Amino acid sequence: MCGIVGAVGHQQCSEMLLDSLKRLEYRGYDSSGIVTIHNNAIALRRAVGKLFNLDQELRAAPLAGEIGIGHTRWATHGGVTTENAHPHVAAGRVAIVHNGIIENHGMIRQRLQDAGHSFSSDTDSEVLAHLFVEAFDAGLDPAAAAVKVLAEIDGAYAFAALSLDHPDLLIVARNASPLALGIGDGACYIGSDAIALSHLTRRVIYLKDKDFAVVQPDGPQIFTADGTPANRESVIVSANPGLVDKGGYRHFMEKEIHEQPDAIAHSLAAMTDSDGRLTAQMDETKLAAINGIVMLAAGTSHYATQIARYWIESLAGVPVACEVASEYHYRQPATGPFSTALAISQSGESLDTLMAMRHAAACGMTTIGLVNVPDSTIAREADAVLPTRAGPEIGVASTKAFTAQLTVLLCFATALARAKGRLDEASANRIHKQIQALPGLVGKTLGLFDHIRPIAHQMAQAKSTLYLGRGALYPLALEGALKLKELSYIHAEGFASGEMKHGPIALIEDGLPVVALLAADHVMTKASSNLREASARGGRIILIAEERAAAEVDYADAVITVPDVDPLLAPLLLAVPAQILAYLTAVEKGTDVDQPRNLAKSVTVE
Ligand code: F6R
Repeated sequence: MCGIVGAVGHQQCSEMLLDSLKRLEYRGYDSSGIVTIHNNAIALRRAVGKLFNLDQELRAAPLAGEIGIGHTRWATHGGVTTENAHPHVAAGRVAIVHNGIIENHGMIRQRLQDAGHSFSSDTDSEVLAHLFVEAFDAGLDPAAAAVKVLAEIDGAYAFAALSLDHPDLLIVARNASPLALGIGDGACYIGSDAIALSHLTRRVIYLKDKDFAVVQPDGPQIFTADGTPANRESVIVSANPGLVDKGGYRHFMEKEIHEQPDAIAHSLAAMTDSDGRLTAQMDETKLAAINGIVMLAAGTSHYATQIARYWIESLAGVPVACEVASEYHYRQPATGPFSTALAISQSGESLDTLMAMRHAAACGMTTIGLVNVPDSTIAREADAVLPTRAGPEIGVASTKAFTAQLTVLLCFATALARAKGRLDEASANRIHKQIQALPGLVGKTLGLFDHIRPIAHQMAQAKSTLYLGRGALYPLALEGALKLKELSYIHAEGFASGEMKHGPIALIEDGLPVVALLAADHVMTKASSNLREASARGGRIILIAEERAAAEVDYADAVITVPDVDPLLAPLLLAVPAQILAYLTAVEKGTDVDQPRNLAKSVTVE
């Protein structure tokens, strides 16, 4: 993770760099820093904690200079301290910022220390600064120095370096971690994504893996890792709103929960063709040829794939495997049964998901990226793109992107089933009508905040909780538990309710909160029996259910209901009260809802 920014040729660039960093704070918020060159000296400010602290530092001691780089950190190597905050400076003349992990840093550090370099941090990144010092000491020009450095490092990186040896240019490079070059008017910029640059320019060049560039005010010179000049076209990226505000809500998460009716409606519109039919954004014959899908994702997006598996298998009869992206290619999976890989990611940048998608492509599969950020790396690399139109999601915990993903996946499943001849036009239209009703139904569930508040008040006292669901509500139980633990730091585990009797039921003791998800579907009776078993052993049942399912339950301690809906759509609707419960519990506990500890929004390390 981490966010990096840089500028060359921009008058008094430090304030602008801070603005760019604010747009990247979703990538990490352990510490931050900016370095500039002014009066032929390196000038550095760093602060532990959120960007607000760096802002204060800069107000107390402003930085001058027309060239600079900045960083917001999500710690990987080395604790959260000022010494470990980027930028890192070596020999008082080379500064670097880095996103990623230099996997062979230990060996390089040892070699450099033996050669007399002294290090001031515990990070893997600092070796980059020393490697450039070494290269410049050897008399290499910037491009030759970059070739030498890149030849020595392994791992994922996007980095930027500046040096007193060449005070009018930045050296930048990327491999697996994202990096955008922004072309301005007499100035050039760099950022981990185009959003970081959107207040400066929309003309952007994306470097390919292992490219590097020497960036000057009049433009970048781009090279492949061996120093061969490379031509990379610039693109005009879509206008984006840049910094988004909370719109009067207390937290971004609260705002984003409320934006779900719109996120669903806009995502549905993107999946509806000009004849008003659901589409998979793909040629019908190609769609009909899909014989198996492997779905690749992480975290909440992974749970969306697990729910979608129920839809795709039951509607279209196409086999689906849901893979945790970080495990996928290292396992050397048998890929024979799958023609298609569907990579699902809000950010479109999760490195685990990107690497898994690349592996699937290398195995000959057609790749589809389902992303919320249109210019993201996954969107650029996939053979086809399915968009969610949830708008920028700022809260670290995913909410509206999740329900937008589910909307798109249900549309995809329906279009696939029709293309396969498994669903007639009338049935496809019936599902379409039900999805169209979703924004209104989700709107109704937003009225549940007051009802859930006292339940959250009690939940906030808990040390541990269980979430149970059966059928398509099992993955929703996993998602509900993830939301609660990441926001409130209360231990929460999700189980398939039918699995309880095979072991986890031993966890149940008097008063343990058990969040039970129930819909009036074909497994309701069995799921309800499982919940009764938990209740009989002292579990305090917090039922989140459709009205008609709730009416069948007489053992719940608290009941949260949503309007009745076709069982197919129940996971989408029941997701909302689960989000509200996690949100309000976190508010009760006073945790940092939008930026929970140890997390970052976009995870670009493996
Ligand atoms: C949890 C959450 C994460 C993300 C995961 C994947 O609330 O937001 O689990 O879902 O890091 O991120 P994307 O979807 O951007 O690939």
